Amino acid sequence: MPLGKGAVIEVCTYADYEDLSRAAADLFERLADKAIRDRGRFDVVLSGGHTPIRTYELLAGRNRLDWGRVHVFWSDERCVPPEDPRSNAGIARKKFLDHVPIPPSQIHPIDCATSPVEGSRRYEALLRSLFGRDSHTFDLVFLGLGADGHTASLFPGTQAVRETDRWISEIYKEDEGIYRVSLTAPVINRSSVVAFMVSGASKAEMLRHILTGQPGSEKLPARLIDPNSYGGKLFWLVDKDAAILLES
Ligand code: 6PG
Repeated sequence: MPLGKGAVIEVCTYADYEDLSRAAADLFERLADKAIRDRGRFDVVLSGGHTPIRTYELLAGRNRLDWGRVHVFWSDERCVPPEDPRSNAGIARKKFLDHVPIPPSQIHPIDCATSPVEGSRRYEALLRSLFGRDSHTFDLVFLGLGADGHTASLFPGTQAVRETDRWISEIYKEDEGIYRVSLTAPVINRSSVVAFMVSGASKAEMLRHILTGQPGSEKLPARLIDPNSYGGKLFWLVDKDAAILLES
């Protein structure tokens, strides 16, 4: 489906949340095998929110994977202690990472609980030290979609959405009373594959708005995600409920 700037988008629709989650786990495994074969490592970004949780649980049982070659990053994080139930890294560890043999030194949570500015600076320095000289950054980035069109912690109208240089930005979320730290579009768009996971009827209107390129949607954070511009691929993994307003 063509959508702005020649982007080609692959929309994959699944019967339900379970099928969507299994497909996302299969994509992770397929891309990990390829990256480890080609480069000896797999650099993957995990998303926050509820949608990816079942995928994480399924990945926890995938014993065939060469976990010793996997390096884990996050799309964003709430600036709370790791044991806080809102922590994206805390949820991923509980559901997934505590059950697979990835070396702890290869798991890179965004540590911004004490200082969002320091946390984002440190994470930016880490990413630039790892990917600064390469044309591509991550092998796979999982992202979710908010009903307001946000993704990661790139919320409509925030400075983070307008970032063209920094790879990491901090955002104060008034309604949550906390800071968040997020990857920005420039670093996400340099990834080889970006996969949105969208489940449920509550996202149907926004999904239609974005995928049909409705006027005004170009300003939405999720529309900024365009790995095609760097030769990468963009997938939308959606379940039937989320896709209910899309043409077949
Ligand atoms: C976060 C996510 C955020 C999430 C969307 C969708 O930290 O909350 O990065 O962008 O992916 O809000 O959330 P759900 O999957 O819970 O609907």
